Amino acid sequence: MSERMALMVGNWKLHFTHIEAIAYVQKLAFRLTDDDYARAEVAVLPPFTALRSVQTIIDADRLRIRYGSQDISAHPSGPYTGEVAGGMLAKLGCTFALVGHSERRQHHGEDDALVNAKLQAALSCRLTPILAVGESLPVRQAGNAISHTVNQLRAGLAGVSAEQAADMVIAYEPIWAIGTGEVATPADAGQMAGELRAALVELYSAACARAVRILYGGSVKASNIRSLMAQDDIDGALVGGASLDPEEFARIVRWPAQS
Ligand code: PGA
Repeated sequence: MSERMALMVGNWKLHFTHIEAIAYVQKLAFRLTDDDYARAEVAVLPPFTALRSVQTIIDADRLRIRYGSQDISAHPSGPYTGEVAGGMLAKLGCTFALVGHSERRQHHGEDDALVNAKLQAALSCRLTPILAVGESLPVRQAGNAISHTVNQLRAGLAGVSAEQAADMVIAYEPIWAIGTGEVATPADAGQMAGELRAALVELYSAACARAVRILYGGSVKASNIRSLMAQDDIDGALVGGASLDPEEFARIVRWPAQS
């Protein structure tokens, strides 16, 4: 951590109806204090069908929880059945748009070029992209984790200016750690975050790299968040399973109090 504001993001994946989402946001908001918001920005990524309800409850109660989408169309509009455009998400008050999650890459055939197009689509609607990158187990075992992940970062950021990049969020999520209970060691996660930041220095500038927030994701829980946050280059977490329980997610947001 440093001058960068911590960011804790709950990725709900395919969970919660819009009714359940309202209950969740109320429970989370009930648990978070001014101190928590002073320490970390808190965001949730609900399914598209719950975004409107999440917006309504957050606006009505003036909650400080931010929200965003788990995916975004590369297109602004047109004959793309099933897609949701950045302009629609911006109109719903989304702050973030997650792009390049490994589950999208794996189950929906998203390659680096499409991830880059989605990231550009988010930027053009003034949404903050959260660009997810990370290696599979075979890639790590072959000793190629760093080059693979840095290459994903470079490809994802193709054509993005330094000014645009400074506002972005990068999520390092080793695929073998997602939903498996296997967590990267804090040292390994910290090392990768450092490599990603070094790549940002090379691509843009030291100032830009200093501004970008880098999250770790992959089996983050209240019981392991503190050691991850102790790494200089890790600024927060992208949390899947553990974020589904608002009490557990609130504990993650309050990482300094965890053991
Ligand atoms: P997990 O998921 O916390 O359940 O491992 C993280 C993610 O996929 O963003």
